[in-house]
Amino acid sequence: MSIHINAKENQIAETVLLPGDPLRAKYIAETYLEDVICYNTVRGMLGYTGTYKGKKISVQGTGMGIPSISIYVFELLNSYNCKKLIRVGSCGSINKKVKVRDIILASGASTNSSINNLIFNNCNFAPIADFELLSSAYSTAKELGINVHVGNILSTDAFYNTREEFWKPWTDYGVLALEMEASALYTLCARHNAKGLAILTVSDSILTGESTSSEEREKTFTDMMEIALQL
Ligand code: ADE
Repeated sequence: MSIHINAKENQIAETVLLPGDPLRAKYIAETYLEDVICYNTVRGMLGYTGTYKGKKISVQGTGMGIPSISIYVFELLNSYNCKKLIRVGSCGSINKKVKVRDIILASGASTNSSINNLIFNNCNFAPIADFELLSSAYSTAKELGINVHVGNILSTDAFYNTREEFWKPWTDYGVLALEMEASALYTLCARHNAKGLAILTVSDSILTGESTSSEEREKTFTDMMEIALQL
C-alpha cells in the first residue's frame, strides 16, 4: 500500500495505462480488459487491473496537472515496481499541421512547471519518451493504418492561459500541442529506470478555437487505445 493507492502487493501490473480522468480508467477497464479487479478507490482516483489478450495490465487515473500525476506515478514506480507507464490523454494543438482528432506520440515533453528547476538546480532537463515504447507505438500505428504525429509537446501548468504570447514561442520552436502531465511522467520514469510514453488525442486547437464533439472523441480514443494496448 502507498499513501494514495490502496492496492495489495502484486495487484498492479508492470504495464499501467494512465488516463487523467478516473472514470476513463473505469471505462477502459470495463471495455477492453477481462477478469477486472478495482484495486484503488482512495480519493475516487480509480485503478483497475485485468488482462488484455492474456497479458496482465492496469489502468490508473492520474488527475489533472503535474502535481497530481506525479503522486500516482511516483507511487506506482516506488511502491509497486511498475515498469511501463503509458499516458493515454488529450491535448490542444498549437501547430498548424496538427488537426483536431489527430493522434500524437510525444517524443519529448517540455514544461513551464518549476518542478524540474528545483530538481536540477535551475538547469533544464529534457524529459523524453522511452525510445523502445515510442518506436513500437509508431510501428503499431503504421500497421493499423493510424496516422500519428511524433514530436515535442508542452506540459503546461495553466489550462486557461491561452494568450498568444504564451503559446507562440512554443509553436515557433515546433512544439505540437499542450497538455498538462507528460513531462512529469517522463522525468519520474527516468529517475526510476522505467519506460514512459504519452499517447494523446487532439481534442481542441488553440490556433483555430475548434474542438471535437464527444462522438468524434470516441473514435480517436479507440485508435489511441488500439495503439496503447499493444505496447
Ligand atoms: N488538454 C486538452 N486540451 C488542452 C488544452 N487546451 N490545454 C491544456 N491541456 C489540454
